[in-house]
Amino acid sequence: MGKQKLRIGMVGYGFMGRTHSNAFTQAPKYFDLPREPELVAVCARNRERAEAFASNWGYQDVESDWQSLVARDDIDLIDIAAPNDMHHDIAIAAAQAGKMVMCEKPLGRTAAESAEMVAAVETAGVANMVWYNYRRIPAVTLAKQMIDRGDLGRIYHYRAKFLQDWTIATDLPQGGEGLWRLDVNVAGSGVTGDLLAHCIDTAMWLNGGIDSVTAMTETFVKERAHSLTGKVEPVGIDDACAFLARFDNGSLATFESTRYARGHKALYTLEINGEHGSLAWDLHDLHRLDYFDHRVEGETRGWRSIHITDGEHPYMDSWWVPGLSIGYAESFVHQAADFIRGLEGEAAAPTFADAHRTDLVTDAVLKSGRTGQWEPASDS
Ligand SMILES: NC(=O)c1ccc[n+]([C@@H]2O[C@H](COP(=O)([O-])OP(=O)(O)OC[C@H]3O[C@@H](n4cnc5c(N)ncnc54)[C@H](O)[C@@H]3O)[C@@H](O)[C@H]2O)c1
Repeated sequence: MGKQKLRIGMVGYGFMGRTHSNAFTQAPKYFDLPREPELVAVCARNRERAEAFASNWGYQDVESDWQSLVARDDIDLIDIAAPNDMHHDIAIAAAQAGKMVMCEKPLGRTAAESAEMVAAVETAGVANMVWYNYRRIPAVTLAKQMIDRGDLGRIYHYRAKFLQDWTIATDLPQGGEGLWRLDVNVAGSGVTGDLLAHCIDTAMWLNGGIDSVTAMTETFVKERAHSLTGKVEPVGIDDACAFLARFDNGSLATFESTRYARGHKALYTLEINGEHGSLAWDLHDLHRLDYFDHRVEGETRGWRSIHITDGEHPYMDSWWVPGLSIGYAESFVHQAADFIRGLEGEAAAPTFADAHRTDLVTDAVLKSGRTGQWEPASDS
């Protein structure tokens, strides 16, 4: 007898629609899962393009409004890969219909939105997860294991940045397809909710909760034509943000993100300094984890660059022979696999409740950008 199916309905066929569809297709081929993902239907407003996407990825059907997708009784899991302004309503409707929900990040445009989403999935008692995929790059997962077992000892510093350069042109419009990230009504915020949310999720996973923050934000281009209205409108997003943070464990942090760092496309780096050693990771070299261990005595003490491709490294025994690397797409495969494994045991993180804590931090960062004050970053 075959495995029980996990019947998936996905909203959105853009960048993330592709990574998720690939993840659900690949996960059962590389990992032993209790349920077999089945791509039942994809939803997007343009039916013709949705049909082409469905045919390419093997979805059986298409829907052109998400309410019809959520209402179907042949779907177990609603996967939200649509822009940020869609997350709240779809997730709540899906939970109320008794469906499991996976949602792209940031969970809400604000923490108030994501609080309602947490309440909905918890009231309904449905499995839920947010696609903060960087946790599941094996080098980052190994960093977590090393920190948890005390290899670094007490943590003093956390440092992260996420740099891009694609919005520098002043004649770039805001809003609409491909440019919804520049429209504050759709995105909720700029680099803070888009890029720093990733850095914050990884940071809190590795180093615990963030107590308070102080930030500066800037919008370098104040007005842009809007693709949908055709009018020049004020830009409401933050183009750049840098903030300081204090973690609950007493460590200090700096975070920086911008879409104005000429030459950088997706430079996500993090470094952690502890009592016994330091760790550093760079998305551009994602299969390496740099490690300095001060407890090594003598003249060979120094930074080492660990190639995270051995069978003993997280997730790697499911892939190729030692020495051969995997990449960005596989972090989503790992996330899909962990979600499905978590349906029969401990639920996989980050849950909606975890992602809501990230939204509390991004709200505090944006608030501090306006007030110039230190702001509390949790609701406790
Ligand atoms: N985890 C990550 O690393 C990561 C990376 C990129 C984007 N994201 C998140 O994923 C989400 C989607 O981003 P993207 O880059 O895939 O965007 P995208 O613009 O490439 O795709 C968005 C998709 O949503 C669809 N859509 C928009 N409005 C819709 C509606 N009313 N009904 C149905 N479908 C609708 C669009 O047709 C499109 O297919 C965002 O929340 C974003 O923040 C996460």
